[in-house]
Amino acid sequence: MNKKIIIANWKMHPNTLAEAESLYHFSCDSCIAGGNNAEVIVCPPFVYLEALSKIESSTGLGAQNCHWEQEGAFTGEVSPVMLKQFGVKYVILGHSERRWKMNEDDEMINEKMKAVLNNDMTPILAVGERKKDEDREHILIDQISKNIGGIDREDIDKIIIAYEPVWTISTTKDKEKETPEHALEAFKIIKDILNKLIGEEINIPILYGGSVDSKNVGSFVSKPEIAGVLVGGASINKEEFGKIIEIVSGIKS
Ligand code: PGA
Repeated sequence: MNKKIIIANWKMHPNTLAEAESLYHFSCDSCIAGGNNAEVIVCPPFVYLEALSKIESSTGLGAQNCHWEQEGAFTGEVSPVMLKQFGVKYVILGHSERRWKMNEDDEMINEKMKAVLNNDMTPILAVGERKKDEDREHILIDQISKNIGGIDREDIDKIIIAYEPVWTISTTKDKEKETPEHALEAFKIIKDILNKLIGEEINIPILYGGSVDSKNVGSFVSKPEIAGVLVGGASINKEEFGKIIEIVSGIKS
């Protein structure tokens, strides 16, 4: 039985190392309190990775981005080789805030996917439509086929996909939130795309992300097709994140 996965995307928070360490300790303790029944992966800003990698825990450490080259003249960038030495096992790639705010295109994301896999880390590929009324099947086909194009067959099984409809990210309005039923239609589309692209049945974890909190996490994670959640805002709120871990830890796959 696979554990459900919870990925904490801290984005550009918190402001101090002391707060980052405190939040990380809290997340680790919450995992233990949940009997380690959920797989928790924390993705802090780069600058906190070294300090957090020294804290012994069952919590996985991830990064929120990386460059596709091993090293070179790329001012301001961080390479997969650099991340690896701090115990980073996962890298979020293709997050909507990087696609739309930092102008990352599908080709760049594809290069990053290959670089992360070549460095024995797991890419967490975020995909999803920007607006609620967009043709999401068309968008998902386009993103996934371009983002995983040219990846070796054996590496496909190492990928995690996060379906994050961009219109649901960081919202408190109920009408802008995704329902598990509507999300599941996208999960089916993603699975069909993968099977078609690879030419055989592919069973990699597909997570849901977009305003996940302690109130709605159970309704998503209780669906067998949903392997876990990618949590942004609620992951930097101790009370909320503690509840999310507690709820997910109690759900069996
Ligand atoms: P949110 O962010 O949970 O704050 O909506 C999710 C994400 O952007 O990964």
